[in-house]
Amino acid sequence: MEQGAIEVPKGLDKVIVDKTSIASTDNEGHLIYRGYRAVDLAEKCSFEKTAYLVTYGRMPDGSELKEFSDFLASNSEVDDNTEKIMQLMPRGTKVIDLIRSVVSLMPLRERSDDKVLLEIAAKIPRISSDGYRIINGMQVLKDLNATYAERFYYLLTGSDDKESARYFEKLLILYMEHEFNASTFALRVTASTLADPRASVTSALAAIKGPLHGGANAEVLNYMLRMKSADEAVKFVDDKLAKKEKIMGFGHRIYKKLDPRAQFVKAQLKELARIKNSEGLYEVSTALEKEMWDRKQIPANLDFYAAIYMYLLGIDESFYTPIFAASRSFGWAAHYLEQVSDNKLIRPDSKYVGPEGLSP
Ligand code: COA
Repeated sequence: MEQGAIEVPKGLDKVIVDKTSIASTDNEGHLIYRGYRAVDLAEKCSFEKTAYLVTYGRMPDGSELKEFSDFLASNSEVDDNTEKIMQLMPRGTKVIDLIRSVVSLMPLRERSDDKVLLEIAAKIPRISSDGYRIINGMQVLKDLNATYAERFYYLLTGSDDKESARYFEKLLILYMEHEFNASTFALRVTASTLADPRASVTSALAAIKGPLHGGANAEVLNYMLRMKSADEAVKFVDDKLAKKEKIMGFGHRIYKKLDPRAQFVKAQLKELARIKNSEGLYEVSTALEKEMWDRKQIPANLDFYAAIYMYLLGIDESFYTPIFAASRSFGWAAHYLEQVSDNKLIRPDSKYVGPEGLSP
């Protein structure tokens, strides 16, 4: 350990490692993107408008928004080599692993960093859809001329229902950015070595897979679908806590009392559950949330309600973490650009606790 080094808490809990102007939480605990509350953006803005805001730091005017949306649409397809790489993936490959592998091999084109990053982001919906279909021996879907959210929803479900796509779009907006979360930090560490954008996004895609981060939403569905009543939800919490096991979809490094994104999705879910005649599932989920709060004062996070929401939107569980990654890839783009614009190699020190003075 270097002389004068500062020792910080494990997991960098409550440690500020750098400045950012991309996202934070305001004094009422709301997540903000570039000064705007994420829930307000989800309510009032399109995915493209929010993605432009997050990437470039300001709201686009009409022609900027059109150019940006056209760029995403015209770069959404993958080339034949990428299709061939996907065909080489063994059956049973997880979609998130396939995305990470494909992105790491994507052809590097002579483009500005922002355009490379946006090109990767634009392709993740198509890679997710084709990858899933190829792995499962299905035909890939034709393209759909539509907005980012409508096209993505169609690629996941085969449905061009605009009402469902609008519900989906709100969730995508809430997943877009969250300052120095684990995958973004991994991206910034890689970017700080001056590796290229593709390598940096690959790091982020590796980090987002874990169940403590982007993998949590798929885990939530696994247990939620086994519960048929509020009583079963209470018993599930009892059993898990008795075994000292974590319940995925609960707890957050930043939101210790309430995750406003989760509450926003919960309200949307209530509407959706009514439309889909699935009020029972909504009631079981709120019972679980209440029990977890009463017993441990641990709030539901976005992934808890997002998982049930995506289920009611007819989206297969294999896509849950990829959906999070697709949306977050715009946040990653912003962080890559911010990191390299004022770079310093991220290279912490460590406290050595191993043996010394041994001879071979
Ligand atoms: N279920 C049960 N207990 C939980 C819990 C959960 N989901 N999340 C946290 N806790 C408990 C821990 O067991 C620990 O209890 P202890 O002090 O008695 O040991 C305490 O709360 C603090 O948890 P810790 O994991 O140290 O807090 P953190 O700030 O490092 O954790 C998470 C944040 C997200 C890693 C953690 O809440 C978690 O693992 N949640 C489940 C995964 C998840 O949903 N991830 C998506 C995040 S958006």
